[in-house]
Amino acid sequence: MHIGLDLGTSGLKALLIDDAQVAIAEASAPLTVERPHSGWSEQDPNSWIIAAELALDGLATKTDLSAVRSIGLSGHMHGATLLDASDTVLRPCILWNDTRSHAQAAAMDTDPAWRAGSGNIVFPGFTAPKLDWVRLNEPDIFANTAKVLLPKDFLRLWLIGDHVAEMSDAAGTSWLDTGARDWSDDLLARASLSRDHMPRLVEGTDVSGQLRAELATRWGMSNVVVAGGGGDNAASAIGMGVTKAGQSFVSLGTSGVLFAANDAYQPDPETAVHTFCHALPGQWHQMGVILAATDALNWLAKTLDQSPEELTAGLGDLKAPSQTVFLPYLGGERTPHNHAGLRGAFIGLEHATDRAALTRAVLEGVGFALADCQQALAATGTRIDTCFAVGGGSRSDYWLQLIATVLNLPLSLAKDGDYGAAFGAARLGQMAATGDLTLATPPAVKRQIDPDTALSGAFQDGHARYQALAKSIKDLT
Ligand code: XUL
Repeated sequence: MHIGLDLGTSGLKALLIDDAQVAIAEASAPLTVERPHSGWSEQDPNSWIIAAELALDGLATKTDLSAVRSIGLSGHMHGATLLDASDTVLRPCILWNDTRSHAQAAAMDTDPAWRAGSGNIVFPGFTAPKLDWVRLNEPDIFANTAKVLLPKDFLRLWLIGDHVAEMSDAAGTSWLDTGARDWSDDLLARASLSRDHMPRLVEGTDVSGQLRAELATRWGMSNVVVAGGGGDNAASAIGMGVTKAGQSFVSLGTSGVLFAANDAYQPDPETAVHTFCHALPGQWHQMGVILAATDALNWLAKTLDQSPEELTAGLGDLKAPSQTVFLPYLGGERTPHNHAGLRGAFIGLEHATDRAALTRAVLEGVGFALADCQQALAATGTRIDTCFAVGGGSRSDYWLQLIATVLNLPLSLAKDGDYGAAFGAARLGQMAATGDLTLATPPAVKRQIDPDTALSGAFQDGHARYQALAKSIKDLT
């Protein structure tokens, strides 16, 4: 048996699978995000450990865990977890959707060494500019920082007692030479850091260490290896067998992601497409990332005092986009704009605009933002032949039908169960424990959502209107 632990932004999930990769049990624990200032987004790293303890205790009360051979880790990417020399957390983790370091990111990005070395724009959400913000604004904390860990790697430190990162997550720091799959001494030096501040690197399918005896005993396990694992997007890709060029998935989580696997390293750092290592050795991937997918729907739901499910439940069959246009840039945007100061908008409101119209506009806005990602990926030459849909938002048929139509791409839904990041993490654990790297195959398809061709033209027009509005809002900010 194998356990996948996925540290999500809104909760941590533990999933137990057997050796045939069938899910046996799961348990989860909620997490909250603090937003002390506009554009800030933080979490207390110690809350991740409490959540992991809760989830693993939950699994242990449901099932005998003595046959568990491995744990695989997945987590939200880019967070800066700063530790002193005795591994004490120095400040709340600055998360992936925190844009406070936009000025530092822009300044770093004017030095061509960053894009050339890391293969990516230095986005404010990435880890390196956050450290530069800390260096300038919290110099004592910067001076005391002995190690910088990504969120899931802080959980690993608790699990195995060692500082280890893996390639897919490390590629989102800006300090990795993404082509060479190694820390870049040059980029670290430019950030007043060195390799000593960084964890040791392994591949996602490697063993990163052994579960500490104290924890193993607590959950009735022995001889458990902890795999490298992956950033949440790479881990989801492993869960859905998205490992080869042409395969892709769209994720409707807090963030929205259009992820495509590549057989080679093909960076295009002049665009806001992300080019990262995959969680499999010798593989890379690209993705377009929007900062608010279900986050945008959750915002509307909170504002209207309803649940997201209540908002989407009565929408019926897909309709042509309305005249109400929504831009989902609640906290800035990555792909394609790379603009931290951009903010959302509703236009085209009228007396008849009701809750359903607002909901549709939000779902459409996220769909159009993903269509922007699709255009950005296509412009880099990345091919998309097949696409799975994953994440909490994929429970809404209306949203899936809309996205299939606006992307003009059939979306596959996996059969029986959740093949997302926790499952991918469990698979990476199994790969590390067995050495079998062929385990990341696509799940059986339960259902395919085809584009509604009768509405394709209307959605293309809607996308054009959305892009025109985004351009004018961008010009204004
Ligand atoms: C990817 C990204 C998000 C987070 C949170 O670059 O920032 O998808 O990993 O899920």
